Amino acid sequence: MDQRAPLFDWPEEGVRRTPYLIYTDPDVHEAEMQRIFRGRTWHYLGLEIEIPHAGDYRLMDVGDTSVIMVRTPGGGVNAMVNRCAHKGSMLLFELFGNVKELMCIYHNWLYDFDGNLRNVPFGKGINGKGGLPDDFQTCDHGLQRLRVEILHGIVFGTFSDEVEPLSDYMGPEMLANTTRVAGKEFKVLGYYSQYLDSNWKLYVENATDPYHATILHAWATKLKLNRLTMEGAIEMGRGGWHHLSWSKMATDQGGEVYETAQFRSGSEEMGQFGLHDPSVIEQWDEFGDGITTAIQTGFPNFMLQQIHNTIAIRVLIPRGVEGSELMWTVLGYADDEEWKTQGRLKQCNLIGPSGYISMEDGMVGNLVQRGTKGDKDKASVMELAGDSIETIRNSRASECGVRGFYTGYRELMGV
Ligand SMILES: [Fe+2]
Repeated sequence: MDQRAPLFDWPEEGVRRTPYLIYTDPDVHEAEMQRIFRGRTWHYLGLEIEIPHAGDYRLMDVGDTSVIMVRTPGGGVNAMVNRCAHKGSMLLFELFGNVKELMCIYHNWLYDFDGNLRNVPFGKGINGKGGLPDDFQTCDHGLQRLRVEILHGIVFGTFSDEVEPLSDYMGPEMLANTTRVAGKEFKVLGYYSQYLDSNWKLYVENATDPYHATILHAWATKLKLNRLTMEGAIEMGRGGWHHLSWSKMATDQGGEVYETAQFRSGSEEMGQFGLHDPSVIEQWDEFGDGITTAIQTGFPNFMLQQIHNTIAIRVLIPRGVEGSELMWTVLGYADDEEWKTQGRLKQCNLIGPSGYISMEDGMVGNLVQRGTKGDKDKASVMELAGDSIETIRNSRASECGVRGFYTGYRELMGV
């Protein structure tokens, strides 16, 4: 139980509000790095297929801490903080690579893939002079390890000794969809990295919020790719911490609601837009269940995405208080025929930094960042479906996903 005094008072309405100060306050940000990112949470580190051979590594940031995920000679996967125990220099600074051991470029301190310190240059001095004292124990100066668990080839790590095993942390709802999407071997098709001029939580809010998805993305709505009037649900996991929103494009029952309501998608201006080449949205039933969009989030910043046949993992890295980096890993499957790979690549025009659907997500957070900055004592209002953080079926007109995220947030932050 956290006995520290709360950093600030959360509005009395609870998670139907988010206080604007959490997007700009440096003390809040620092507390998030410790209490959330190094707290009782699991974090995406990468994929096993990215590091097939001994010494293959990839870097991932957990909050503001760089972490090395590495394949050991024994075939396992280890994770440790990317920081030399000597002066604190990063050991590795390229995102991917292969190394024989972990050597710091600064003074060549050398570590094995279990993080043990193996050599200190001039540790015995020269001509009997200088060097390390006799009581210097190399075993006291290894790299800081993370707990690691792997689910369907997806590698997660945590700084916490207390957090439950990964499968319990995810819960049955998120596990089911993870198995649905990641149950057969992935193939990496490519990467996007996207800097956002907004606090990291604003993008998480966006990803947990299907309310915006059929409104902000007027293009997708006009083409009937995603509408709230389709069969769908928002499933909540672990008491709201995680969310999964899905819909089935072929089940749209909405009639003219999007055309007659005062939405941009129904405006005269949008009426002029269509596709000269509809092949960009040609798709196949990916999993045989008719679900055409499924966005899963894992607290705090993990996203597993199926938008039509674009499969991707997104992870949102805080970059200071008012910035963040969205890292996309675009995926197909190892057994994909070539036409499927080509189809996925074409549909990638829908997602990513300049995707027809998702480019708006990158900019709208900045509108909130700038809009809220001047009034840190005010709060946003999220009352669709009241204060529920429960699963909602046959509707997605609920902000339960965002409220659920802040339920976890408040618990870990003690606010
Ligand atoms: Fe969106």
